[in-house]
Amino acid sequence: MDLGIAGRWALVCAASKGLGRGCALALAREGVNVVITARGEEALEATAAELRALNKGAVRTVAGDIVTPEGRKAALAAAPQIDILVTNAGGPPPGDFRDWDRDAWIAAIDANMLAPIELMKATVDAMAQRQFGRVVNITSGAVKAPIEMLGLSNGARGGLTGFVAGLARQKRLASANVTINNLLPGAFDTDRIRKTLSATAAKTGQPMEAVLAKRAEGIPAQRLGQAEEFGTMCAFLCSAQAGYLTGQNVLIDGGAYPGTF
Ligand SMILES: NC(=O)c1ccc[n+]([C@@H]2O[C@H](COP(=O)([O-])OP(=O)(O)OC[C@H]3O[C@@H](n4cnc5c(N)ncnc54)[C@H](OP(=O)(O)O)[C@@H]3O)[C@@H](O)[C@H]2O)c1
Repeated sequence: MDLGIAGRWALVCAASKGLGRGCALALAREGVNVVITARGEEALEATAAELRALNKGAVRTVAGDIVTPEGRKAALAAAPQIDILVTNAGGPPPGDFRDWDRDAWIAAIDANMLAPIELMKATVDAMAQRQFGRVVNITSGAVKAPIEMLGLSNGARGGLTGFVAGLARQKRLASANVTINNLLPGAFDTDRIRKTLSATAAKTGQPMEAVLAKRAEGIPAQRLGQAEEFGTMCAFLCSAQAGYLTGQNVLIDGGAYPGTF
């Protein structure tokens, strides 16, 4: 299926690895020109080389922290216009809320709530003027079913989700073919999850494969998700065909969430 977005410009944040990379790859395959960002230059350039090897659209890199105003300014300036925005950043650390002070909360809110809001603020009105815009915020399945240890994520991403629910429904955006949706990952096989699971493996003395298998056991699909399949869903949400789909929270979790809705 041709998604009708070849030649569009996308900013995909935090995209040298993992889910952001999966989204950039899927968009680049559709012929979208992409700007990808990450703090570490080496992995960013390696991913850019893979995207360029597709011989589709332009690929630009911006090394910087998307959580800072300077990082966002540089990322936004790297494309002539932004038709597609994929917001993403690292997730907050796990822990107990009794140990988190104001600084810990501000850091989580900055990364997982305010940075995406600032990026949307900088882009959606111009999208509306051009009568096309797609925003996908990478959030978390924790928004729908909170994960106890990830209280900072539950809280900060919950705030973003509430904000997006209102913004996506602004008539000046929705009637101008600007859609804003959140894509909620369950457990995906990325560096982030492997780091967490390797800590469990080290603590329990179990081999990594056993810890991975145990993690997959609770998922009806009996496996972790792959970043490429996450990216495919992101590309569909960004497609020309998805113009009537806005303000939604799309969970992609192999059936892990146990509810009917
Ligand atoms: N994987 C899962 O199962 C899962 C589940 C639920 C939610 N999530 C959330 O989804 C997001 C992506 O997770 P992932 O698994 O793809 O992580 P990952 O594999 O660790 O990749 C994170 C990517 O983001 C970049 N990044 C991190 N912080 C950044 C910043 N401040 N500015 C710019 N780039 C930044 C990293 O590069 P640099 O480090 O070089 O900057 C890397 O490219 C996270 O917020 C995570 O909490 C993931």
